[in-house]
Amino acid sequence: MKLSWTGFSKKSLQERLKFLQDYHLLNENNQANLEYNHTLPLSTADQMSENVIGTFALPYAFVPEVMVDGQVYQVPFVTEEPSVVAAASFAAKMIKRSGGFKTTIHNRQMIGQVALYHVPDIKNAINNIQEKKQKLLELANQAHPSIVKRGGGARHLHAEYLNGEAEFLIVYLTVDTQEAMGANILNTMLEALKTPLEELSGGKSLMAILSNYATEALVTATCEIDIRFLDRNKSEALDIAKKIVLASQFAKQDPYRASTHNKGIFNGIDAVVLATGNDWRAIEAGAHAYASRNGTYQGLTTWSIKEATQTLYGEITLPLPIATKGGSIGLNPTVQVSFDLLNQPTAKELASIIASIGLAQNFAALKALVSTGIQQGHMKLQAKSLALLAGAQDTEISPLVSQLISEKNFSLKRAQEILEDFRQKS
Ligand code: HMG
Repeated sequence: MKLSWTGFSKKSLQERLKFLQDYHLLNENNQANLEYNHTLPLSTADQMSENVIGTFALPYAFVPEVMVDGQVYQVPFVTEEPSVVAAASFAAKMIKRSGGFKTTIHNRQMIGQVALYHVPDIKNAINNIQEKKQKLLELANQAHPSIVKRGGGARHLHAEYLNGEAEFLIVYLTVDTQEAMGANILNTMLEALKTPLEELSGGKSLMAILSNYATEALVTATCEIDIRFLDRNKSEALDIAKKIVLASQFAKQDPYRASTHNKGIFNGIDAVVLATGNDWRAIEAGAHAYASRNGTYQGLTTWSIKEATQTLYGEITLPLPIATKGGSIGLNPTVQVSFDLLNQPTAKELASIIASIGLAQNFAALKALVSTGIQQGHMKLQAKSLALLAGAQDTEISPLVSQLISEKNFSLKRAQEILEDFRQKS
């Protein structure tokens, strides 16, 4: 049976679940999990964190038909913000029509640091460490043999002198962590190297810890959108494309804009990172550091026009040390639903999907910003939250939303007034 996702967002929640079941995208377990809200069991939550007194729920949605490297994925999103899923779905649809996203995984290794201080002879220490590099890599691997058995392990090690307010000798260790994000693997290895490095350098170790600036886990996603798809009117479409290019230049030149530009990208990235049980703080920290690599905070995407093909070309590169194993991934039942929806991707495939979602989200936001303005699409969907906030119950929500949209007034006060009016009349 051929899937048609057109109008999926207009179905009721029950119809959406039925649709997924009919097309074998949800097995019985996952269906029950979503339908009857079998979320994280309290006993599991209690093992995952400290001082647990409950669990915390957020909407679980997905973006259909995201085409990445020729594969089509249904991408789970956890987000509380209206219009994020709509925007990503809108962009993914248009980009699929234009051939989908293409991605490159530049590498998939994690970096950690041992910081040494009070090193008496820096040059001598660097030489000693360099000479014993193989031995140090072996020690690191012995500290975490299971990752070596899985085909990963310590790959490189080098020392760098850091001279600022204080003097340091920093030893960088690069590790192939396979399907894991690798924080525990790195930290175990680095701590095993502390004493040998103190002996080799004659200094003291300040700390040993993984770096979230994962420059050895960079991913690039690109897309080429047929300019004709941007508007029915040909010259308007070209104008929108040109303005999207300008908008990406604006975000390269002004950190105030770059921050909002990147926030929009993370609307999508965080939503998938959360849905797949990954560490969104780590991903955010690494990407924001990467956005500042030229000495000023810049937008993470670049848009340009390819004259020959009359396409709008978009590109994003960022560190994405995404995991499919480890941490809380195996513990949270809804995270398992996400992996089933995504058809059990590898860590590299998942990183490619997430980078693509970041680019899609940015495209939708920029297109709205340079054409209709953000309020039209965003506030239309925000009106639903406003209606709920005003206290609207089941059958009151839809007419209240319609009224707010027709008045173009999205204040809580007005929503409450209209609701009161409805209730008096009924
Ligand atoms: P539209 O052109 O009115 O959409 O755009 P449409 O009604 O023609 O529908 C086209 C397709 O979009 C649909 O296809 C869906 O795929 C999707 P169909 O299913 O009909 O065949 N779609 C939806 N999917 C799920 N739920 C919906 C829905 N509506 C459309 N309700 C749209 C409407 C909202 C998509 C557009 O206006 C848009 O993309 N706006 C941008 C919204 C946005 O970026 N929101 C993020 C929050 S704002 C923010 O925090 C970030 C920001 O500050 C970042 C920055 O500054 O860079 C903006």
